[in-house]
Amino acid sequence: MTASIKIGHSDVVSGPLGLGTNKIGGHNLFPGLDDQTGVQTVKAALDHGISMLDTAFMYGLGNSEYLIGQAIADYDRHQIVIATKAAQNPDQELRPNNRPAFLTQQVDNALQRLGTDYIDIFYIHFPDQDTPKYEAVGALEKLKEAGKIRAIGVSNFSLDQLKEANQDGYVDIVEDAYNLIDRQAAQTLMPYLQQQKISFVPYFPLASGLLTGKYQANQTFEPGSWQAKRANFQGERFAAITTALAETVKPIAAAHQATTAQVVLAWYIQDPAIAVVIPGARTPEQAAQNAAALNVTLSVDEVKQISAAFKHLPA
Ligand SMILES: NC(=O)c1ccc[n+]([C@@H]2O[C@H](COP(=O)([O-])OP(=O)(O)OC[C@H]3O[C@@H](n4cnc5c(N)ncnc54)[C@H](OP(=O)(O)O)[C@@H]3O)[C@@H](O)[C@H]2O)c1
Repeated sequence: MTASIKIGHSDVVSGPLGLGTNKIGGHNLFPGLDDQTGVQTVKAALDHGISMLDTAFMYGLGNSEYLIGQAIADYDRHQIVIATKAAQNPDQELRPNNRPAFLTQQVDNALQRLGTDYIDIFYIHFPDQDTPKYEAVGALEKLKEAGKIRAIGVSNFSLDQLKEANQDGYVDIVEDAYNLIDRQAAQTLMPYLQQQKISFVPYFPLASGLLTGKYQANQTFEPGSWQAKRANFQGERFAAITTALAETVKPIAAAHQATTAQVVLAWYIQDPAIAVVIPGARTPEQAAQNAAALNVTLSVDEVKQISAAFKHLPA
């Protein structure tokens, strides 16, 4: 039986594993995506016990939300937790806008694309420069009262911005970068989140695929490739990460008859500081494989070994 996780002060309840959908219809962000594969990927995730779908206007400028709406049409809507985000203004070169009227319109637009009459979690995707954050969240509180959204989230906010946003105690959930190899949010955000009973969803849980163990230590990347632009995929840091995966995570995975990715996902699932883990997938096979992380329970000692193996990585 999958644990039920309550989101912040809201009445939204989710299982511990979701699906990240920036590669479902996110043609503006990633090359070579196929919409029908995207729809099948969402269905595979739902068929394998995933409860949360994490999307955003930004993923395909509405296309990801639209494809999710298509995918869930044959499922029981009440069994699915839909989380979406907005802030980027398509009329202003996608600059973030947190004005109440803008966010209110974005929620209506998202509802239409998703083909639903409520959104379980709505996040302000990025902070803008000038809107007082409590005013932005105040607008979402009105939408919550109106039943259009059920929980209020913010994403990519600094601690100060989060505190301002949560001035009236309305924030239920925060989404920010966090994974085995970059745990900064544990220092910057988590103490405040725990104090305020705000849920936390980490993004990049697989470090963009690196933590699946599919890259080899001696692998090099073409200049201009996306990996060549990321520190995690370079030099000593890349070597240390691939070595820790091979020497620590792989043997634990073998003992559980699981994959490296499943063990990494199980490492987040056991952590009470983390509400829901949302690994991205580009294919139904990846979504199904990742969903099986729900069957992996790590021992306390295995959790410690994994934590220690990635603690002191070269910068
Ligand atoms: N709030 C924000 O600002 C923000 C920012 C970023 C992401 N997000 C959300 O967080 C989610 C997760 O982040 P992410 O998707 O960017 O990164 P991620 O979860 O760290 O990595 C996902 C990628 O890893 C690869 N992968 C996944 N499962 C695999 C498997 N079983 N075997 C082999 N490869 C596998 C796939 O890429 P390849 O097949 O291409 O290798 C997949 O797209 C996103 O989808 C999005 O919903 C939010």
